[in-house]
Amino acid sequence: MKNFLIAPSILSADFARLGEDVERVLAAGADVIHFDVMDNHYVPNLTFGAPICKALRDYGIIAPIDVHLMVKPVDRIIPDFANAGASIITFHVEASNNVDYTLQLIKKNGCKAGVVFNLATPLYHLDYIMDKVNIILLMSVNPGFSGQLFMPETLNKLQKVRRRIDESGHDIRLEIDGGVKVNNIREIAENGADMFVVGSAIFSHSDYKAVVDEMRTELSRVRQ
Ligand code: DX5
Ligand code: ZN
Repeated sequence: MKNFLIAPSILSADFARLGEDVERVLAAGADVIHFDVMDNHYVPNLTFGAPICKALRDYGIIAPIDVHLMVKPVDRIIPDFANAGASIITFHVEASNNVDYTLQLIKKNGCKAGVVFNLATPLYHLDYIMDKVNIILLMSVNPGFSGQLFMPETLNKLQKVRRRIDESGHDIRLEIDGGVKVNNIREIAENGADMFVVGSAIFSHSDYKAVVDEMRTELSRVRQ
C-alpha cells in the first residue's frame, strides 16, 4: 500500500483543551497535525498564530506540524512559525509576491515547503517550481471554515497534479484539504492524493480512533 498520511486539522479541535486533544488524535493513529492559520484578510476568518504552535511543542507534541498559512502577506510570518516548531509550511500562491522567494525562505528556515491552490487558482504557477516544492496542497473547499462539502471538481485537478508530480520524478506529497470523510477518502486517493487533511469528520466524532481506522481501511482498498 502507498504511504498515505492522515493530518487532522486542529481548527475543529477543542481549543480549551488543545494539548490534550492533539495527544488524543495522535494516539488514535494520526500521522501529522494540520495547523490552519487564518488572518481575517486573505480569508474571512481568524484563528491562531505561532505562539499556539510553540505551546503545542512545549506541551510535548513531537509529531510533524503542517502549518497551512491562509494569510497575506506571507513572508514576514514564516520565521515565527519555523521558530515555533513548524515542520512543514504551505502558503497560497496568490498571497505571495514572489513564490520562488517564499519557498526559499521557508527552506532557509529549516522547514519543508509547499504551495496551496484554491479550486479556481490555475496550475501554471507550478511551471518553474517542481524542483523546489516538497508538498502541493489542493483546496477542495474555499478556505476559511471547516465543515464544508468537498467540491467534486477537485478530483480532476488532483489527477492533473498527480500526473505532473509523477512526470517530474520529484518526491512531492499531494495533500488535499476540505470535506474529506470516510465515504470519499478512497475516491480522493484514487485520483492522486496521498496526504489527507481531516477536520470535522474526526473531531465531531467522540471516537477519533474509530474514524482514523475506518479511513485506513478505505485507503487499504485503493486501486493503484
Ligand atoms: C479550511 C481549512 C481546513 C479545514 C478542514 O480553510 O484549511 O483545513 O479545517 O476541515 P473539514 O475537514 O471539516 O473540511
Ligand atoms: Zn488547512
